[in-house]
Amino acid sequence: MNPKEIAAQQAVQFIEEGMIVGLGTGSTAYWAIQQIGQRVQAGLHIRAVASSQSSEDLAKQAGIPMVEFSEITSIDLTIDGADEVDDQLNLIKGGGGALLREKIIAFHSKRFIVIVDESKRVEHLGRFSLPVEIVPFASNLTINRLTELDCKPQLRLDNGKEFVTDNGNWIVDCKFEKILLPQELGAQIHSIPGVVEHGLFVQMASSVVVGYKDGSTKILS
Ligand code: A5P
Repeated sequence: MNPKEIAAQQAVQFIEEGMIVGLGTGSTAYWAIQQIGQRVQAGLHIRAVASSQSSEDLAKQAGIPMVEFSEITSIDLTIDGADEVDDQLNLIKGGGGALLREKIIAFHSKRFIVIVDESKRVEHLGRFSLPVEIVPFASNLTINRLTELDCKPQLRLDNGKEFVTDNGNWIVDCKFEKILLPQELGAQIHSIPGVVEHGLFVQMASSVVVGYKDGSTKILS
């Protein structure tokens, strides 16, 4: 088993009968969706919401019953990956471009479990470029303002064209040096009109399950 699969396997054990479960996005969340599917096939009754179209498609293929957002008021437990995790359990997310829906789901979750392999742990956030979702309108002006925050912003492309999120927006990947004050930086980014959301998840994770190459896991909380 690879470390992502091992972390996912451990996190999925926290799901209980009757729960509303949030499904993350990415190559680590993929394993969680597969394993939740197996538990459902074995008789577990849950309903799920997904943080992206791709995860919703995967969940349906895995036989996981989905529920409309209009039918729920909160989410019991969400399992999602991350691009970076620091020792305070702050995260950078959005490498897959699903950060807005991921943050909405995480915010409304009673418990938010992050699953990563050991390569994602960092002392300070910032090695990974911070994804920022922006509206396409006047995007060059928005990007100029991001530059003023001491980062190198790069509009994300997909086959030479702008990468478009599930929400019809674009992503700017912002390379910072060390992010020492993620809460403050997040507030600065949010203050720019045209920014929809950023990939800093500060004090949102309830716990982080880290999977290691030797097959072990460690839970940070
Ligand atoms: C999706 O937008 C992201 O937030 C992912 O959760 C994150 O990029 C981790 O992805 P991997 O598990 O594929 O590394």
